[in-house]
Amino acid sequence: MSALAVTLGALRLKNPVLTASGTCGYGLDLLPHFDISLLGGIVCKSLSLAPREGNAPPRLAETPGGMLNSIGLQNIGIDLFLSEKLPLLRRHDTAIVANIFGETVEEFGALARLVDGAEGVAAIEVNISCPNTARGGTEFGVDPDATARVTAAVRGATRLPLIVKLSPNVTDITLIARAAVDAGADILSLVNTFFGMAVDVERRRPILSSGSGGLSGPVIKPMAVHLVSRVARSVNVPLIGIGGIRSGADAMEFILAGASAVEVGTATFTEPAACVRIVREIEEYCARHAIAELRTLIGALNR
Ligand code: SIN
Repeated sequence: MSALAVTLGALRLKNPVLTASGTCGYGLDLLPHFDISLLGGIVCKSLSLAPREGNAPPRLAETPGGMLNSIGLQNIGIDLFLSEKLPLLRRHDTAIVANIFGETVEEFGALARLVDGAEGVAAIEVNISCPNTARGGTEFGVDPDATARVTAAVRGATRLPLIVKLSPNVTDITLIARAAVDAGADILSLVNTFFGMAVDVERRRPILSSGSGGLSGPVIKPMAVHLVSRVARSVNVPLIGIGGIRSGADAMEFILAGASAVEVGTATFTEPAACVRIVREIEEYCARHAIAELRTLIGALNR
């Protein structure tokens, strides 16, 4: 096993750095910039049963220390992903994680069944930060019961490692985390974006066409590390930390707080190869501290 290898249950990664869903399409957009087999894994943009065009522009806004997005879950749909993107992706020696979302519990199950039958997918990440149409559009991920039902539907449809991606926009994230684990999640990833809004004061209207959106980037990192640390003490499954990671030191904050791996998102918009640099910086950190195996530092925060 190499020094940076980590295992999250049945999911084995050559190093702990994955791309975050929604920040590199289906991973292939990164190929002109670097060899994606240098990464622990690629998490694809959230996939639905049918293709979606997403929201009207403007759907991105830069904010101090971060950015807001309201893409509206635009994607090519599961069929095109499986027939056109996956065959190209699986030529590369990296873990491919299919991120899925449905509008109903049944849709999550149907998507998981389709992914389960496909060659080359290492794990499924379930995006529960999407509207539950049967409950008037409330997000699945704000309700422990809806989280459990979605997780159970996916669990019943696949034997692939099952990652549930948690929203930070809840009163107590540990309740949602426990609901997901009790319903069969193998791994939790956290956090998705924080709700936010930016206003164009000259035009007196929100900058994003949808009004509010999801805040990501360095500004959310301390909140995300805090939530990883809380969840790590509440459940007994591996975690993937997400939120404003720009450097090896940022990744190490999440790992020391209890994450076994990290996803890097917003940083790739300004530096497409940020993930590769972050892998190198984690390697340098381990060398500097004479750490033979990175996994020994997971949750190793001195308190
Ligand atoms: C989007 O496509 O609007 C973002 C999806 C997400 O944050 O889960």
